[in-house]
Amino acid sequence: MHQFPNNFIWGTATSSYQIEGAATKDGKGPSIWDAFSSIPGKVHKGETGALACDHYHRYKEDIQLMKAMGVKAYRFSIAWPRVLPTGKGAINKRGLQFYSDLIDELLKADIVPWVTLYHWDLPLALQMEDDGWLGDSIADYFATYADLCFEHFGDRVKHWITLNEPWVVAILGHGQGVFAPGRNSNSEPYLAAHNLLLAHAKAVQIYRKKYGHQNGQIGITNNCDWREPLTKRSEDQEAAERALQFFLAWFADPIYKGDYPAVMKKRLGSRLPQFSTAEKELILGTSDFFGLNHYTTMYAAHGDGRSKKQSVYGNGGISEDQDVHLSQDKSWDLTSMNWAVVPWGCKKMLKWIDARYDRPPIYITENGCAYPDQVVDGKVDDQKRVDFYRGYLTACLDAISEGVQLKGYFAWSFMDNFEWASGYDKRFGLHYVDFETLERLPKESARWIGQVMRRNRLNEQG
Ligand code: GAL
Repeated sequence: MHQFPNNFIWGTATSSYQIEGAATKDGKGPSIWDAFSSIPGKVHKGETGALACDHYHRYKEDIQLMKAMGVKAYRFSIAWPRVLPTGKGAINKRGLQFYSDLIDELLKADIVPWVTLYHWDLPLALQMEDDGWLGDSIADYFATYADLCFEHFGDRVKHWITLNEPWVVAILGHGQGVFAPGRNSNSEPYLAAHNLLLAHAKAVQIYRKKYGHQNGQIGITNNCDWREPLTKRSEDQEAAERALQFFLAWFADPIYKGDYPAVMKKRLGSRLPQFSTAEKELILGTSDFFGLNHYTTMYAAHGDGRSKKQSVYGNGGISEDQDVHLSQDKSWDLTSMNWAVVPWGCKKMLKWIDARYDRPPIYITENGCAYPDQVVDGKVDDQKRVDFYRGYLTACLDAISEGVQLKGYFAWSFMDNFEWASGYDKRFGLHYVDFETLERLPKESARWIGQVMRRNRLNEQG
């Protein structure tokens, strides 16, 4: 019988815009998600993160819930516009104080903070004045913001993640336009990604040069779903490999190998920006660990031009550039995101990373599932979620037993929250949150009514 190592990190994850609320409180500036979600038609039922889980006011209760669950590590993100309302220049002391208090409270509860610096809520002023991730100065602005966070929290935070899922920022934010800032383009994703990588690298260089004495670790979190060749035909095998390179190697190759994958250079030509020699050196080796968010698997087949007609979102990238046709197996169970539950894909994903990047330490910084949970007699019957976690964790254990250096696992998410364009309709939480009640009550007295301790169920079932 294999077991997870004793020092394996068990955690849960959230992000600022999805849980904090208090969107305009105590000097916080607006973010691109405040703006995007207020545009009619962009988010399910016009919902926004203005109140969300009200974590800004309830973080102490939330930490008690985490403690009761036995969580040892907590991954959260800092809202850039809460500490720097316009992204640069004036500092908002009350914003810094909030995160400082949150970190102290976590440490008091023996929960180790893992802090993401950017989980998509860019200060709106940077978008309007500097073109956000497309602008020339964004990497420097990000590095300055990161420096501020290291300076104020680095005495207590020893695990940093620069960016969450730059693929999503690039493709969903600048390609498909379904996420903020809502841009729709065939070239902007590659420019945004380029600047995201430079921003990541600059922040890491500052951390290593100025804050080495803090003895922390820093890395980046990328997302990737597994791509399984639809058939044994070599063109489908190549299509699956190409899809993985356009998805994950796009961001991981520059960091682990010093440049973009050859297949992307070849297919994209001048739409893929080039790194100078100095930039390649700046980026190479800038991750102490491999952060992976993994949710699902799809079959990949050679596109034959069919992919031109598929949506970018459904295709996992700029479809016409990859020319990969994606599909699901009819026998696979789907979550309410329509993402297939395929634990063996997780194991294959881990092994692919292990082989391509020479056995890096890996942390799964997100994995989880949404189901249409309902409270009946004060309980949620979430057998499907239990099965999901059991399946994926077994896949993780298998990978470890075959030599993959998987060091930790963070469940997405600690509690139901604002699921981006899906609003509050999709429930990923280990805790149920009764948003309707939360919304109706006056803010000062709002309580969660529907907290259901799923952990009991999980514990009962091992
Ligand atoms: C990730 C993202 C999270 C969460 C999750 C579930 O892409 O980092 O914020 O929304 O997906 O959709």
